[in-house]
Amino acid sequence: MQIIHTVSEMQAFARSVRASGQTLGCVPTMGALHAGHASLVREAAAHHEHVVTSVFVNPTQFGPNEDFSRYPRTLDSDIDVVRAHGGTVVFAPPVDEMYPSGTTTMIHVGGVTAPYEGALRPGHFDGVATIVCKLLQAILPDEAYFGQKDYQQTLVIKQLVHDLLLPVRVTVCPTVREADGLAMSSRNIYLSAEDRQRASTIYRALRTGQALAHTGETRRVAYEQLMRDDISTLHDVTIDYLEAARAADLSTPDAFEHGEEIVLLAAVRMGTTRLIDNLLACVGGETA
Ligand code: PAJ
Repeated sequence: MQIIHTVSEMQAFARSVRASGQTLGCVPTMGALHAGHASLVREAAAHHEHVVTSVFVNPTQFGPNEDFSRYPRTLDSDIDVVRAHGGTVVFAPPVDEMYPSGTTTMIHVGGVTAPYEGALRPGHFDGVATIVCKLLQAILPDEAYFGQKDYQQTLVIKQLVHDLLLPVRVTVCPTVREADGLAMSSRNIYLSAEDRQRASTIYRALRTGQALAHTGETRRVAYEQLMRDDISTLHDVTIDYLEAARAADLSTPDAFEHGEEIVLLAAVRMGTTRLIDNLLACVGGETA
């Protein structure tokens, strides 16, 4: 396993892989790696001789009152996780490698960035799009792997790759969950014992929405009502959103079509921790 800290060394490595006729997968992360990240590394390793996992806590995607400074930084154990799951390189650049002094360019993706996380975290997706574009320029992968856990982010990245003609395949992998259904997240460690226990309510609420879709319910409002039922009984919990949207573009018609793929989206704050999750469903049928 190699640890690379500079963009020029990273690009040289990618070119040597390509010159030898091998392929490169990449898994962009902000570190504090858990089983969700590990599943992406494993999937990439199953399809490519080389897998680069980037570990970079990206300052531009955090708002001024968000958790950039307290975000967990655990590079040594991250390296162990990557090694254990078949990764061949950890790319861990310092901030001034990714944002050299004098940097003025930021990327704004339109459309899918507008609702949900984009509305609640102004500038967040500009930061994500910008760093993902830079990481792809540095790592030069054939294929990049992302988790469905951050569903809106996957749509933003697909749009970015489409619009900027980036020569990379984007693959989205399933959300890895704890035994009680809570989606794994680097932020789960912030939860108090009590909040950790009740955090699985989010998954259960999404499952009720998924079951409702399978009954053929088309009225969008019915999803919100049903999913909120469970969580609104909890004290000290704020729902940022808990609703259904079209999976393709996050649009929100009053009624879905029968057979349409929808996504049930949740963002919930418990104590000082904000958790997001989602599930896909097909209106009137089982999701493939
Ligand atoms: P981070 O939150 O570290 O997540 C890195 C990747 O792991 C993302 O694609 C995310 O969706 C995926 N992931 C997180 N939890 C997961 C889970 N429980 N199951 C499956 N996949 C999971 O997302 C980011 O970092 C950043 O925004 C990044 C894309 C790296 C840009 O800075």
